[in-house]
Amino acid sequence: MPQRKRALAILKIARMGHPLLMRVADPIEDPTSPDVQRLAADMVDTMRDAPGIGLAAPQVHMPKRMVIYYVPEGRDEEGAGHPLTTLINPEITVLDPALESGAEGCLSLPGMIGAVARPQHIGVKALDLKGNPLEYEATGYHARVIQHEYDHLDGILYPMRMTDLSSLGYVQEMTGHDD
Ligand code: NI
Repeated sequence: MPQRKRALAILKIARMGHPLLMRVADPIEDPTSPDVQRLAADMVDTMRDAPGIGLAAPQVHMPKRMVIYYVPEGRDEEGAGHPLTTLINPEITVLDPALESGAEGCLSLPGMIGAVARPQHIGVKALDLKGNPLEYEATGYHARVIQHEYDHLDGILYPMRMTDLSSLGYVQEMTGHDD
């Protein structure tokens, strides 16, 4: 019997200034619970609809320590093609503290980008949606995406990491087009 298709659920995305984006999110006690499975599926729908490459639960008004992300194919970046991944209660270890600056955007600051300096080599530990441990290393752009999403769990938005706000602006004004 074919599985009944779940209806798409597009959640509202909180924008900068919403108090839920400014607080430390709570650990998830049971990654396998139906509520968590549902939230993860809804976050995937929401991220794809936006569209974006990463989303943290606090951005959809759920103060829980879960993020989803992927790294698109074809990007000339380390980690390109990394599949859609869910990290529950993630922990990050910096494996090389040397910082590199790169452009970041965020669905909670629609239309804007800014340059953020971050470590380019990290270790990641988390649980997946089956409650199994995940452990891997990430470098370059992949490491940047994970750190950006992780920051949302601690109430940090990328402008709070910027040292030179002159690079913060609207994509459309900076490039003359919208992507
Ligand atoms: Ni973000």
